[in-house]
Order: sequence, then C-alpha cells, then structure tokens
Amino acid sequence: MHEFKYLNNHLYCERVKVEDVARKHGTPLYLYSYHTLMDHFLKLKTAFKAIEPLICFSVKANSNLALLRAMVDKGAGLDIVSGGELYRALKAGCAPEKIVYASVGKTDEEIEEAIKRNILFFNVESVPELENINRIAAEQERVVNVAIRINPDVEPKTHKFISTGKLTNKFGIDFKTAEKIFKQCYDYSNVRLNGVHIHIGSQITVADPFVAAITKVVKFIEKLKKENIHLQYLNIGGGLGIIYDKETPQTAQKFAVKVLPLLAKTGLKIIMEPGRFIVGNAGILVTKVLYIKSTPLKKFVIVDAGMNDLIRPALYSAYHQILPLKKAEARGRLEKVDVVGPICESGDFLAKDRLMPKLKAGDYLAVMGSGAYGFSMSSNYNSRRRAAEVLVSKDKARVVRKREDYKDLARNERLPLFL
Ligand code: LLP
Repeated sequence: MHEFKYLNNHLYCERVKVEDVARKHGTPLYLYSYHTLMDHFLKLKTAFKAIEPLICFSVKANSNLALLRAMVDKGAGLDIVSGGELYRALKAGCAPEKIVYASVGKTDEEIEEAIKRNILFFNVESVPELENINRIAAEQERVVNVAIRINPDVEPKTHKFISTGKLTNKFGIDFKTAEKIFKQCYDYSNVRLNGVHIHIGSQITVADPFVAAITKVVKFIEKLKKENIHLQYLNIGGGLGIIYDKETPQTAQKFAVKVLPLLAKTGLKIIMEPGRFIVGNAGILVTKVLYIKSTPLKKFVIVDAGMNDLIRPALYSAYHQILPLKKAEARGRLEKVDVVGPICESGDFLAKDRLMPKLKAGDYLAVMGSGAYGFSMSSNYNSRRRAAEVLVSKDKARVVRKREDYKDLARNERLPLFL
C-alpha cells in the first residue's frame, strides 16, 4: 500500500504531480509520501495494540530529520547505531528514554555521549563491549540499562548480506555465553542487565524465522526466570519485508497474529525496530533519462541517478520497479533495456534486462520502493552531489534536504602548506 498512483496517466504522490516536483527541484530527487509513512507506522502500532510495544524506527533506513520528526510526533522511539544517529534522533526531538542503541562497534566517545543523554538502553553485542560500557558508566557514576543481543542462530531466508541471526554472522551473543553473562551480572555493577534483543535480518517476508527466533528467546527468558533473573525488556528487532517485485510479505496484522501470543506470554515490555516496513514504500527516487544508447548487444537507458544515489541494485542485485512518470500508451511496445547511471563502474545499474516502454531522452522515471536504505546509503562517489529530498503531504511538497552544492563536496578539505 502506498500513495504513488497514476492519475490521467501521470504519476502522483498523494495530490502532487511528481513531474512538477522533478521540474522544480531537479533530479535525481527522493520524494516521500507523509501519509504512506504514517499509514505503515500506524498499521504496526494498531496490529500490536494489545501489548503496546515501543516502536523504535530504525534510523539507518532513513535518517532524514523531517521523517524522523513525523514518526516521533506519533509516539515512535528510535533505534540508533552511531553517535551520528544519536545526534539526529535528539535533533528530531526524540525523547532519550525512547532511544535504543545497537552496533557491534560502539566507540568510547559514542558510549559516553549516549550515557550522558540518558538513552533507554544499549543493545550489547559482545563481552568486551559490555565490560567497556560498565567501565564508562562507572566513570560517570551511573548505572545503565543493557539488553544482551542474542544471536539465536536461525535462518532468516533473505539475502546473505542482510542476514544477521546466524552464528556465522558478527552480530549478537550465543545463548550459552548470554546465560553466563546474566548469571555473572554482579560483576557489572554499573550495568542493569534487564533486557534481551534479537534482530535476525532484513527483508524477511515470512513469519517462521521470527517465530523460531522469538520462541528460542522466550524459552531463554523462562530459563533465566527459574534462576531468579528477571528481565524488563524484550527487543525483537526489525526485519519485516515489503513488496519490491513479486514478494507476498505478511501484513502487520498477520505478523502480529503469529508472534503476539509468544510476546504477550513474557509479560515484558516489547520493543520493535522496524525500518524498511515503515519507510520502504513511502519513498521513490526520481530520475531523468539522459541518453538512449544502443550497442550491438544491448540497449542502455542512461539516467541521471547512479549507484551513489541508490546502491541497492549494485550491492544486493536488488530489484526496484521502475515506472515512467508519464504512463506509456497502453498498446505501446515494451523493450528489454538496462537502466544505468552515469558512474564509471559496470555495477552502476538500477535495472538489468528490464522490459520497459520505449523511452527517450528527457523522460522522467520513478524508482519505486526507495524510501528505505536509499538516501541513507547514498554517497558522493564520482564527486556527485547527494540528491535533494522532498516530503509530500496532500497537495504540499516541501524540500526536507536540499541538493548538495559543489562547495559541500570540498567543504572539509584543506591544501597543506607543503604543496
Ligand atoms: N535493528 C537492527 C539491529 C538492525 O541492524 C536493522 C537493520 C534494523 C533493526 C532494521 O531492519 P529493517 O526493519 O529495516 O529490515 N541496507 C540493506 C538493509 C540492511 C539492514 C541493516 N540492519 C538493504 O538495503 O536491504
């Protein structure tokens, strides 16, 4: 479900004609629908109403302040993984007691800052990290909440680069070690070990990996209870998949039916960390066709957005639907093309061997499902300015990040005197 639809053969975002925004603000351009974003957030919230979880949107999926603010205003917390994301979370107005912090490599500086700012808890991923947090908390004369991130060793059935809950992945701590940590909690006097966390991967379209992981963790929590170790929080991470192509992912409602009974049984405060589910289909990348190039073997549609703008196809061979902003004639012929960017890499493509209506230079295209891990993974490679971001609500379209200019590219560089 999203609010990008054709009306009189032109693609609209809510009540705004996308081509108007593209002409006004230029391309490449990220365009987000406020109401799609809210709809997904509220669907999840409603589906889990019975246990009132704290839904901490995963900032890495899309860290634009306006989008974060929109969710925070509706009661969302935020899941962060760096000092930079902490900075953004606070700047977006998120209450620190709704911020949870994961990452296998938190630095001392990042830990210090997060403790100072009173975040809800750290998701801890190793024993040395736990010791470090305990030491830094002691220096600040504080006792901080910690959830141990468990690696439940389940197969999430997703792309191997975004699978995180197998024991071969760098994430989390195995059950045996975790149990040891909880039993030795008195060794960590500045840490309140009161939660467990799992996050088994991303773009997971079926319920069974979640059910398997949660079942294992619930058993673990029961075991701890018998040892008189009582927890407060269960963080089930993110990972819910969306439709990019022909997936049939579960709805929030269906997901809830499968996992709610397991979660409710624990009696713990439940935290969720969805990213893609909320923002994935709430954003598109708008790009313009620069050239059509035919070679003896192929036809290339060369566009002004590259892998620096959207790296998912290059990195994961990810599929993104590509739609012309102006709908092609119903009876028009389709042709097989590669949609490629201007970057000097053969991996710089948005689509390969894709059947598209006949396109010409100057046509605009929408790369669908680009709201999650789109702009947030973009870079300045080839000294390309990062794209503008525009947020639409009903008939309003507002720039929420202006396109970088050339000065931004070299802003932090210096010429040393010896040159
Ligand atoms: N919590 C933790 C600890 C995570 O590592 C992640 C994502 C999430 C929550 C949110 O997961 P989501 O609900 O969005 O699936 N760049 C990749 C996805 C990487 C996901 C990394 N971790 C992509 O473009 O597919």
